[in-house]
Amino acid sequence: MSTFSDPMADRKADSATPIECLRLAGDDTRSLHSVVHSFELADLTAVLVDEILFRCDPPGNADPVAVVLDVTRGEERVSTSFLVQAGRPVGLNGADGPAALFRIEYDVLDLVRELFGPSSPGGPANRRTELRFVPESMTVEGVRPLGSIMAAASTILTGCSSDNPGLARLALRHDSDKWGGLHWFAALYERHLRQLRGQPVRVLEIGIGGYDHPTLGGGSLKMWKHYFPRGLVFGVDLYDKSGLDQQRLHTLKADQSDPAQMIEIAERHGPFDIVIDDGSHINEHVRTTFRALFPHVRAGGLYVIEDLWTSYAPGFGGNEAPEACDSTTLGLVKRLVDDLHYEEQPLKTTGGVGPSLAGMHLYRNIAFLEKGRNAEGGIPGWIRH
Ligand SMILES: C[S@@+](CC[C@H](N)C(=O)[O-])C[C@H]1O[C@@H](n2cnc3c(N)ncnc32)[C@H](O)[C@@H]1O
Repeated sequence: MSTFSDPMADRKADSATPIECLRLAGDDTRSLHSVVHSFELADLTAVLVDEILFRCDPPGNADPVAVVLDVTRGEERVSTSFLVQAGRPVGLNGADGPAALFRIEYDVLDLVRELFGPSSPGGPANRRTELRFVPESMTVEGVRPLGSIMAAASTILTGCSSDNPGLARLALRHDSDKWGGLHWFAALYERHLRQLRGQPVRVLEIGIGGYDHPTLGGGSLKMWKHYFPRGLVFGVDLYDKSGLDQQRLHTLKADQSDPAQMIEIAERHGPFDIVIDDGSHINEHVRTTFRALFPHVRAGGLYVIEDLWTSYAPGFGGNEAPEACDSTTLGLVKRLVDDLHYEEQPLKTTGGVGPSLAGMHLYRNIAFLEKGRNAEGGIPGWIRH
């Protein structure tokens, strides 16, 4: 039996408003499609913008930032500029307001889904974002506005969702760059970590942030501590960050390029449920750290590698040519694809961590590697010849 109901029938009957039709359509694709093609795009956008204004968190950025939202339907486009500034609710940016430094574009159907749920599983993939800021100089002062712009963009994006990823809010609140103008990792972490949220997990993150400043950084460590109320969080950095230590959050000074130091940490504080490499991003360091720490991830846990883009960056030991990947992070990931299938390989030339690699989830610039038993016996020789 079809459960499809046509909200437009109600519209014809009692001239229902766009919001009523959207509300009644729920997550039924045909109904939503019908609704978003039955009203003027400007009228639909007005309803969506009203919802976004209502749902946005109080802004955290001190400097006023304009963020423009483009809602599209085929060739049609309706733009709305928001003004985001701490101390006042998000509002509409007037014609004499500042120029938009961040742009978000949604197809109207995707935005309707985001707002009225359930959010589409594509996460950040179903929208376009564009940072329009160009620093006057590559100095601390020159890039300072970036913090406000990221915070403003995040405020609008979290307002665009019916299922705000807890981690996105926590990343913003604790000043981690895992959710903001450069990275949109928080929603992906949420997807993979949600099931562990109530568990007494042990988390190890390489790279605390703030570099040699003794009390700067620690944003992601605080985010993990907050996200896992029963968790124990360890952060490793090249520099002494003990000024950031607090209950359930411990910093450790070590160099990730030295496997002996990594193994010592793991033997003392592991095994870990989650290991995250957000440290130097130097390709050889990432590979070394993986070899040292993956054995110390608990079955059912995850090993996460961020910023895969450095595989193409010679300054980080990467290589601009994708095929020249013998010593890059993505080369490691490609090799792991073979390791995962070690039992299917007649030559058994690879193996490595295959028997304990339960799965791989690769997204743009981030890889989630699942630890667990991987032993299905392989496809019998008489089938594969
Ligand atoms: C991108 S920041 C980490 C940001 C932090 N994870 C967050 O999300 O808020 C990178 C950090 O890695 C540290 N780092 C650089 N090289 C390292 C190494 N060889 N071993 C350990 N930490 C290193 C830096 O000092 C810096 O604090």
